[in-house]
Amino acid sequence: MDDTIKITKSINWHALKQINCLIAGARDSGKSFLALYLIVRLIRFSLPTQLFVIDPKRSDLSRFSKILPPNRVASDKEEIFALLDRYLALMKKRANFVLTQPFGATAASLGIPLYYLVYDEFGALTSLLNSKERKEHDALLSQIALMGRQFGFGLICLMQQSSVVNGGLSTAVKQQFGMVAHMGNASSDYYRSTFGSGIQLPAEELGQGEGLIWIQGFGQGFLRAFKAPFINPLRLWEQCIISCKGDHQDDLKYLTMIPSH
Ligand SMILES: Nc1ncnc2c1ncn2[C@@H]1O[C@H](COP(=O)(O)OP(=O)(O)O)[C@@H](O)[C@H]1O
Ligand SMILES: [Mg+2]
Repeated sequence: MDDTIKITKSINWHALKQINCLIAGARDSGKSFLALYLIVRLIRFSLPTQLFVIDPKRSDLSRFSKILPPNRVASDKEEIFALLDRYLALMKKRANFVLTQPFGATAASLGIPLYYLVYDEFGALTSLLNSKERKEHDALLSQIALMGRQFGFGLICLMQQSSVVNGGLSTAVKQQFGMVAHMGNASSDYYRSTFGSGIQLPAEELGQGEGLIWIQGFGQGFLRAFKAPFINPLRLWEQCIISCKGDHQDDLKYLTMIPSH
């Protein structure tokens, strides 16, 4: 399966090989628009990516509850924990399936369909949790981030730059991102909290819908300035409605599907 998503003419993201993505930035910098673009590409793969959404602020992405199967979108605390549990349970089923395949098989070698969890406004919930809940939340997320690569279960985290600084994500999870973008202008301290300390910052001034991006395989501190694809949200939403029709989104159907060659 071709897992390529074009970010710009010269920047491609391989959603399976470079699984997990962090999009940071200030409010209104273009995080959700970029995520919507990625979502549309993911669900329109030849084998559609199965989409799960967490949106604690009930902003744009919670609309997916209207077009996805039940229990795919979570906003309040109980729903979010239930969705993380469910996503992990599906991943474990996928893992058992992969183990029935020849030795050394992975999601990538089998070309099986992806599952992706898009977590918007990461940090909006975690800041409200008590320490026990926080631990549980972090443990669920770490398991998804650490095991997902092998089984084709990805994570796209969107967070305000202040949440990046305040330790919304554990280092273990941060190390699992295959693509990291920081949208909009920010001080070098903010960029460093997103990308790590050893980075070279390009000199460009960045506006809404523009950012700095790192993709796994391009060297440790190698960042590129980029402009996100310009999107018309109404048109993309229409495409989402069409792509989610029928049985294109189905928890179990795609879990054990191997494409015919
Ligand atoms: N890729 C893009 N294409 C078109 N407009 C964009 C794009 N990115 C950002 N914008 C504009 O910026 C606004 C804020 O973007 P949004 O993704 O909602 O920001 P954030 O999620 O970071 O708060 C959008 O309402 C839109 O007008
Ligand atoms: Mg947003």
